[in-house]
Amino acid sequence: MTSRKEAIRALHASGCSKEVIQHCLTVERIALQLAKQILSRGHELDLNLVRIGALLHDIGRSRTHGITHGVEGGKILRRLGLRKWTNFAENHIGAGIPKNEAVRLGLPARNFMPRTLEEKIVTYADKLAEGNKKVSYRRALESLKSDLGEKHPAVRRFRRLHEEIRKLSNGGPAETRTRDLHLSS
Ligand SMILES: [Fe+2]
Repeated sequence: MTSRKEAIRALHASGCSKEVIQHCLTVERIALQLAKQILSRGHELDLNLVRIGALLHDIGRSRTHGITHGVEGGKILRRLGLRKWTNFAENHIGAGIPKNEAVRLGLPARNFMPRTLEEKIVTYADKLAEGNKKVSYRRALESLKSDLGEKHPAVRRFRRLHEEIRKLSNGGPAETRTRDLHLSS
C-alpha cells in the first residue's frame, strides 16, 4: 500500500511544480468528499485508492502540460513501481478519451476512459478543480464548453459522468444537485 506521504513525495521527486501539487491536493479533497458521500449511500469503494489516485493523477505534468501528460504519468508511475495507480493518470484527461479520439489526438491507440468507480470519481473531481479551487459542476461544464465547443464529445462525456456520480451520491434531479453535495471548501 502506498501512503499519502509517499504519494506526495513522488510528486516532489518527479519534479511537479508547487501549483501542480496544490492542484493534486485539491483534487484529493474533492474526490474524498464525493467518495465518502457515495460510501454513505451504501456503495462500495476503496477510499485509499481514491486518495492516492487523486494525488498521483497529474504526476505526468512534471514532464508536459500537453494532452500526453496522462500517458507520461503512467510511464512515471510504472518506473516508480506504482503500477496500481497508472490508470488514474492515463484515464483522467477530459472526461476520458475513447480509442478513436485517442488516435486522432496522436495518443497510443487505446481506450483512455475511466473504468472503475474510483477512477471515475478522480476524473470527475479533477474537472471540478480549477487549479486549487473547487468550482460547481455548472461552472466546470461551461469552462469545458468554452474550451472545446458545445458539441465536443468530451462535453457529452462529462455530463454522463456527472449523472453517474450524482445518482450514486444523492439521487437528486439532473444537473443541479452536485452543488448540494457537501463539497463546500
Ligand atoms: Fe490532468
